[in-house]
Amino acid sequence: GLGDVYKRQGELWTKCSDSCKLALPKAWNNTMATILVLNGPNLNLLGGREPDQYGHRSLQEIMEELDRFAGACGHQLSHVQHNSEGALVDVIQNAAHQGVDYIIINPAAYTHTSVAIRDALLAVKIPFVEVHLSAVASREPFRQVSYFSDVAMGVISGFHGESYMLALQAIINQIEP
Ligand code: DQA
Repeated sequence: GLGDVYKRQGELWTKCSDSCKLALPKAWNNTMATILVLNGPNLNLLGGREPDQYGHRSLQEIMEELDRFAGACGHQLSHVQHNSEGALVDVIQNAAHQGVDYIIINPAAYTHTSVAIRDALLAVKIPFVEVHLSAVASREPFRQVSYFSDVAMGVISGFHGESYMLALQAIINQIEP
């Protein structure tokens, strides 16, 4: 049960998180949240794609680590990657009917262009954290514009795959402060 999981916290830290140390909640309040992780175009190429910017880990490795940590905290996590804008809009619209409580989204290149994905997030009113592997604020000027930051719970950028884990930690801390 969850009590056992909590007692094994030290062990779980190393098991759940290869990239960073995350804190399990201090108390379990039995509120299971459903968290959806959305990844935009070209993120399926992570690992081999510009590793100086985006790190060496594959998307699958990063998502497996997220899954483990969410599970250890008693929450349900699912993740999806799409290269096309419309597919991402469809997933966000469906999330509203599937009882998704929080979204972690890396819109990738659509960060800097997509009114459609922004509008979908506003339409479903699901709180979301914007995530970037690279430090977008210190890259080309076109990457310093985001259609998401002003309506996000917060933005985490620049920690490679660890950015996702920090976003998940922030959400879990809000659920169980
Ligand atoms: C990115 C940054 C974007 O500018 C870029 O188009 C991406 C990935 C990041 O995670 O650093 O594809 O969102």
